[in-house]
Formats: sequence, structure tokens, C-alpha cells
Amino acid sequence: MKVIVARDYNELCSFAGRFVIRWLQTHEKVVLGLATGKTMIGLYKVLVEQYKRGEVSFRNCVTFNLDEFVGLEVTHELSYHYYMKVHFFDHVDISEDARFLPNGLAKDVLAECDRYEKLIKEKGGIDLTLLGIGKNGHIAFNEPTSSLASRTRVKRLEAETIEALEKSFGGKEKVPKYVITMGIGTIMESKHILMLASGKEKACAVRDMIEGPIGAYCPATVLQLHPHAFVVIDEDAGSLLSRKYDTVKDVLSDPYEEYFYEGK
Ligand code: GLP
Repeated sequence: MKVIVARDYNELCSFAGRFVIRWLQTHEKVVLGLATGKTMIGLYKVLVEQYKRGEVSFRNCVTFNLDEFVGLEVTHELSYHYYMKVHFFDHVDISEDARFLPNGLAKDVLAECDRYEKLIKEKGGIDLTLLGIGKNGHIAFNEPTSSLASRTRVKRLEAETIEALEKSFGGKEKVPKYVITMGIGTIMESKHILMLASGKEKACAVRDMIEGPIGAYCPATVLQLHPHAFVVIDEDAGSLLSRKYDTVKDVLSDPYEEYFYEGK
């Protein structure tokens, strides 16, 4: 696991943007795993800006989102379909038939999970997955105690996650209880992972993910086992860490920066 500390959220997003763009520039065809959530908004903004300046194209990308709520219309403004449209898809050149999200409206949601897994395989597997982290250490919607080998499936949200979503949905009872999420095993098959975490409210989860023992109690700890996991955090999210880690400045001034992006 390569940990990089940014001064603040802005530096975090511009560094993560640089990372993704290097990736796109050095790979012919890229299958991306995409995350949602507040943290990702700044990264998508950087990517859209770079696209508009003509510095990057997503034409050769195929994308798979990590998760979606069960039962929310795709036009619901809190669905992940809608989020992706507003923050990313509407502004870049990823063709419509290359964007995939789990279908939370499928008649048979269990069959939908299997279909999604198969589709990822058919497209050659995921090259680079963007990940955020929940306050309880979840990745995608793999709540604590999720099997570290789990595949795409339906999960019931934990009380803590429902609380985190309560405000935006306008009440606990309005938060969907079920989601479709890529499993931890599915995520770990991604060839590279770029995890972002920002803010003091993530500090406990970030400490456990980086310095804690690996366990399903904190799903994000599984990244310690991934050969190419990059964790970019801001100082607030890293405020409970016991060691000093490389800063964005350290990486950018490293003569082997290119080598670093390859994650070797
Ligand atoms: C949700 C998403 C996750 C995301 C997490 C953190 O639970 N399913 O993929 O990582 O929120 O979101 P935020 O960045 O808003 O804290």
C-alpha cells in the first residue's frame, strides 16, 4: 500500500486527477471502476476540466460503478446513476454503451448481481478502481464483517451508513435499505486501486485501514493485501496516523515519479 498525504482536499483532488490522467495517457484501453460520494466530486471536477482543456480523452474507457441503491429510479437525484451523469458522464466523451452501473431496478436483483460480475469479466476485468471509504471503514457498500472474498451482491445497509445518508435523503425512513455492491473480492481483482479519503470524520477508518490489522471488521484494511493500492488522504483524514508518510510534494519531486505511477 502506497500512502500519500495531501495538504488539503484541493491538493488531494488535483493529485488524484494527475494520477488518473497519467494512467489514461499510458494505457490504450482502460476499464475503470468508479466510485460515488462527496469525496469523489472534486476528482471528477478535475477530470472534466482536463477533458475540456483537451488534455485527456475517455473515448477508450469502459466504466463500471461500484454500487447502486435498490429501488431508486435512475432519475432520482440521489441515485448513483444520476450522480454519475451530473458529475461526470454528461461532460466527457465516454460512450453511453461503455458505462455500466448495477441496475437497482432489476426485477431479479440477485440475477443482476451475477450479470454484473459476468460483464466485468467479459470486458477483461477492471484496470483501475477509484475508491472512497465510509466512516465505518466500508468500501463500496461492503459493510463491516463483509466477507473479504465477497462478490457482487445485495447488501442491507448498516445503521451507521443509514445515519450518514439520512440528511441527504431527508429522513432515515427514506434511505433505501438495500444496495447492490461489487464485492470485496471483485474490487481486489482490479489491477490497480486509487483510494481517496478526506476530512476528520474519516480519520478513525483511515488509521485502521493503514495501520490496523487486516480484518472484515474494517473492510478497507484488505487494501493492505493489494499489490498496487494507492491511498491518497488529506492531513485531516490522516490526523490519527502514528507514522509520517510521503507527501504529494515528496512524490512530485521524486525523479522516479513515472515509475511510481506504474506502482511497481
Ligand atoms: C458511500 C459509497 C462509497 C463511498 C462512501 C463515502 O457509502 N457507496 O462508495 O466511498 O459513500 O462517501 P463520501 O465521500 O461521501 O464520504
